[in-house]
Amino acid sequence: MDEQAHTASKREAGYRAAELVQPGMVIGLGTGSTVFFAMERLKERIAAGLNIQGIPTSLQAATRAREYGIPLTSLDEYPEPDLAIDGADQVDPKFRLIKGRGAAHTREKCVAASAKQFIVVIDESKLTTHLNAPVPIEVIPFAATPVVARLKFMGGLPVIRQGVKKDGPVITDNGNIIIDCSFGRIDSPEKLEHDLCSIPGIVENGLFTRFTKKTLVIVGSRLLTSADVIP
Ligand code: A5P
Repeated sequence: MDEQAHTASKREAGYRAAELVQPGMVIGLGTGSTVFFAMERLKERIAAGLNIQGIPTSLQAATRAREYGIPLTSLDEYPEPDLAIDGADQVDPKFRLIKGRGAAHTREKCVAASAKQFIVVIDESKLTTHLNAPVPIEVIPFAATPVVARLKFMGGLPVIRQGVKKDGPVITDNGNIIIDCSFGRIDSPEKLEHDLCSIPGIVENGLFTRFTKKTLVIVGSRLLTSADVIP
């Protein structure tokens, strides 16, 4: 599948998710290129009279939502949004995810955890039988060195994410750094997600294993069932 086909698939998924939004809903707005397509379609629907509010998961999502005329609110105002729409970097047959390529996974996880339904929009390249991508981990800078040591002790290969067109590490919207840590094939994502969050200094990690029951995955124009996840 070439780049153009991936983009077309992302657009279809985003547009399909936007069609599931009902008048009056409060929706979590994830971060990344696929969610932007959902926002593009929501912009059209808002122009046609749809009344919704969005909770952005990053500065990038908030900026795009404002450009598109999507009224913004917060988890403080609406601690239980009707749904959250978000992308993913990998999706396995049980709808467990790796997220955080854009370093927004902490706020994305807060919103996904709070929402009644979680809609994941992806193109085919994100489907995998086993999660095996590096796991993005948000860490307070103060604890970077001991966290790196703990991750190595766990068998991981941690790398501090570096900025592009900026010297030094990527700094998240929360003022922290990102460590991308490879663990090879992840046989128990639930355990790894839990173990990572028990390390002092780790704010959150990009494994999403706890929302599977309320997750709907849209790949291109298809609503998936887990049986559809074939590498
Ligand atoms: C942001 O930190 C990520 O979790 C994104 O949601 C994820 O990387 C998907 O992004 P794309 O839709 O751009 O592939």
